[in-house]
Amino acid sequence: MANVAAVDVRELVKVYPGGVRGVDGLTFRVDSGEIYGLVGPNGSGKTTTLRIVATLLKPTEGSVKVFGYDVVRDAMKVRRLLSYLPEEAGAYRDLTGLDFVKFVLGIRLRGRELEEAVEEAVRIADLGADVRRPVRGYSKGMKRLLALSTVLASRAKLMILDEPTAGLDVEHSIRVRNLIAEFSRRAGVAVLISSHNMLEVEHLCDRVGILYRGKLVAEGPPEKLKADYSARNLEEVFVSVVKGVRGGSR
Ligand SMILES: Nc1ncnc2c1ncn2[C@@H]1O[C@H](COP(=O)(O)OP(=O)(O)O)[C@@H](O)[C@H]1O
Ligand SMILES: [Mg+2]
Repeated sequence: MANVAAVDVRELVKVYPGGVRGVDGLTFRVDSGEIYGLVGPNGSGKTTTLRIVATLLKPTEGSVKVFGYDVVRDAMKVRRLLSYLPEEAGAYRDLTGLDFVKFVLGIRLRGRELEEAVEEAVRIADLGADVRRPVRGYSKGMKRLLALSTVLASRAKLMILDEPTAGLDVEHSIRVRNLIAEFSRRAGVAVLISSHNMLEVEHLCDRVGILYRGKLVAEGPPEKLKADYSARNLEEVFVSVVKGVRGGSR
């Protein structure tokens, strides 16, 4: 099992009721120790893909495995290996930050392990005295940091982060990105991250997959993609690729 992929997605299709193809034939893998970014415009299928990998949504076709376990047949095993930051993590407004952390981490950890993880999450979030105040009074950046800290402290082998910095100010965005980079260096951890902001994931991700209308239209390390398309950044890569896709489909 040494070189089994953290995430192995093959020919994935998701058709929503009503016929919308949220994902339309997607293949990619994420290795242990890797930060992989799914980038693409709104509606390109990022959240759909992440929810399927996180076992929250069932694929219509194709196969998805997490460390060798199938997300449909072995969903319970997969859930123990991953931790998921949803696009909108705004629930539990009446809990204090600390109680939120205890509640979420308590779902998977017990005893001494739970205590250590709670301490770690509180340390990472670094909210000072606010951690004992109700979440309803937090800014968007504070809520995101709290939720992310809980995911990072969870000791999962795979972290799935859906637009972790969307809507945050510069300072919070930088802290979030630095934390993701720091924690991904732990042995064997893999990170699958999504973003509609191609510029911001460029420096964070080892490899990116550019998603457009549910399909991967380019993939590789950001530096290689930029060289291949003679582009200054990933946005320019995206524009070139999409021109090619549109031209080719006429
Ligand atoms: N619950 C749903 N029912 C129907 N269509 C959906 C649903 N969720 C997402 N979609 C559609 O699937 C496509 C991909 O959406 P999504 O995965 O949320 O994209 P992204 O996260 O990249 O913005 C979009 O066209 C969206 O409208
Ligand atoms: Mg989304």
